Amino acid sequence: MADIQIFDTTLRDGEQSPGVNLNKSEKLEIAKQLERLGVDIIEAGFPAASEGDFEAVKLIAETVKNASVTALARTHKKDIDRAYEALKNTERPRIHIFLATSPIHMEYKLKMTEEEVLKKSVEMVKYAKERFPEVEFSAEDATRSDIDFLCRLIEQVIDAGATVINLPDTVGFTTPHEYGRMFKTISERVPNIKNVNLSCHCHDDLGMAVANSMAAVENGATQVECAVNGIGERAGNAALEEIAVALEIRKDFYPYQTSLVLKEIKRTSDIVSKLTGMYIQANKAVIGRNAYAHESGIHQDGVLKNAETYEIITPELVGVSENTLFLGKHSGRHAFKDKVAEFKLELSEDDITAAFKRFKLLTDQKKEVTEDDIYTILMEIKTED
Ligand code: KIV
Ligand code: ZN
Repeated sequence: MADIQIFDTTLRDGEQSPGVNLNKSEKLEIAKQLERLGVDIIEAGFPAASEGDFEAVKLIAETVKNASVTALARTHKKDIDRAYEALKNTERPRIHIFLATSPIHMEYKLKMTEEEVLKKSVEMVKYAKERFPEVEFSAEDATRSDIDFLCRLIEQVIDAGATVINLPDTVGFTTPHEYGRMFKTISERVPNIKNVNLSCHCHDDLGMAVANSMAAVENGATQVECAVNGIGERAGNAALEEIAVALEIRKDFYPYQTSLVLKEIKRTSDIVSKLTGMYIQANKAVIGRNAYAHESGIHQDGVLKNAETYEIITPELVGVSENTLFLGKHSGRHAFKDKVAEFKLELSEDDITAAFKRFKLLTDQKKEVTEDDIYTILMEIKTED
């Protein structure tokens, strides 16, 4: 088994992105690609939320063979029963139950006391355990919860049968240092924690979801919950591809294995982007259009001599075919000459010098000079010869 389990929630928390609504066959297409990507757990949806979600979870559960399939449920018997109906035909079913533990959620949303939350959590974990071999319990809004209460509740839900404890940063409020410390404290203070998988789940409201997840891993998390392209509620969830590549590139710091097939990352990202209609910003880490593009002359020159000068990730690692030398006003003669060579035209050094000058003039008028623009310049120069 991998050291770090990758729990993908693209189809559940990811689908909670405002404006996203996937139908059953779209969800199945994504689930099959997640299987090829090698995620350990696919959270397929929330069966009690709608008939459509129930059907989608059931279909995914019956189709996927190489990942555990899970579904979300509130601490209600009817939610757990519905999840059971959807998941009963999968090989490795897991239920994911959640209940909020922070003072603000307990007082205003749940209108429950700490003792009531504790009792309900234990009761529903026991109920779920009679139906599922794997029971994940999430203490919603864990990062704004009282740590003594959290320790007490976690110990009791593990005794009741939970096999995975998830500590979500539901509102993206925590910082790496603080989140890491919470995992360390829980690992030290909850006596039976070593019997379960400890999981992190981060939202990106302050832009720290990936950094917070990495801090959790450093401090004992053995499961990371994340979504492809970082989609999810509000500012989104921790981006799967960024965590996967950070774990790979910084093995010196994170000596852990995952079961991910990294070269499937780009394809997975493209499928999710296409089906959700959520386009990826050009400068997005790992999979953005500019992530392997170099514009400045100094950078282009360095990359042409040795890509590692300015590239810490090879595009091939994540299934991107090659890096691009973006031709704009910061580009140098070296990169320009490389592009010109691709046209296989007979040109003298003087022709190339003249073409480079015209190219530079054009970059003051256009942000990106295209291949067609360059070809036109070269053909003009050739006809003038
Ligand atoms: O962010 C959150 O708290 C959740 C839970 C349901 C796990 O998505
Ligand atoms: Zn969430």
